[in-house]
Amino acid sequence: MNKSVFVTGATNGTGFAIACRFAKEGYAVFIGSRTLEAAQKAAEKITEKYGTYAKGYRTEIFSEENVKAIFADIRARGYLLDTLVLNAANLGIGQVSLDVDIDDFMDVYKTNVGWNFMMAREAARQMREKGKGSIVFITSNSALRVTENRCAYCSSKSAILAMSKSLAVDWGKYGIRSNCVMPGMIKTERWENNANNAKYCLANYTPLQDIAEFEDIANAVWYFGSEESRNTTGAELAVDGGMLAQLTPNINRELWT
Ligand SMILES: NC(=O)c1ccc[n+]([C@@H]2O[C@H](COP(=O)([O-])OP(=O)(O)OC[C@H]3O[C@@H](n4cnc5c(N)ncnc54)[C@H](OP(=O)(O)O)[C@@H]3O)[C@@H](O)[C@H]2O)c1
Repeated sequence: MNKSVFVTGATNGTGFAIACRFAKEGYAVFIGSRTLEAAQKAAEKITEKYGTYAKGYRTEIFSEENVKAIFADIRARGYLLDTLVLNAANLGIGQVSLDVDIDDFMDVYKTNVGWNFMMAREAARQMREKGKGSIVFITSNSALRVTENRCAYCSSKSAILAMSKSLAVDWGKYGIRSNCVMPGMIKTERWENNANNAKYCLANYTPLQDIAEFEDIANAVWYFGSEESRNTTGAELAVDGGMLAQLTPNINRELWT
């Protein structure tokens, strides 16, 4: 039986690129999405392109019953999961801190913290049987340096850093590793549709003056998710063009000299 990976939110963009990276290495790929049809289509594309086994699952956010059913099905297909990649996220965009509805605020936590934990725990129950496994969280550099009116999102991404370390400590004795990839800006459709991003962000905020492609994130996930990083757990890797290293934006330079 070949190795297997489950990637959440993997029907397009970053998640799909991550799924493809593992398929390229011969992994069986399980795709999660809130839409079953989209998950199945993405799985078909992967099998067509890489010839590896792939299957789509509908993920129901914050349902432990759904999580258990997914992992039971993976087991029924003869797999015990090797790698879990938690990519899906509630972005909590437009949540003005003074006004945000508390249910909307908590929805971000339900997805990014609660549901991710449920997925990680159920995966770990399979990994413990194998005596090894790798969990990779996609968090964000905004876990460390935040942006305006994204309190729920940024703090939930920060919570993921501590959750990953906790799981690394709790499950290391079972050979289970847990690590985080911290993207900065990724070249998504959202990013490309906002002309201000290209105009102001790159030159002013990132030392490399470049943005991550989906594959840059996928390569970092591959490192943590595979045996390449067999002695690494509880760690983070920023893939952000150096944003975290830079304290002030490169504007009004004369003010700083
Ligand atoms: N884009 C960036 O610049 C950037 C920067 C830093 C960190 N990140 C992180 O990198 C990862 C991928 O980013 P991305 O921009 O490619 O993500 P995205 O496309 O916005 O979201 C990835 C997937 O998450 C699922 N999702 C979206 N909203 C959700 C919600 N409210 N509740 C549950 N699931 C939801 C969707 O999958 P389904 O609809 O198929 O369920 C979606 O395809 C995320 O964890 C993100 O936080 C991104």
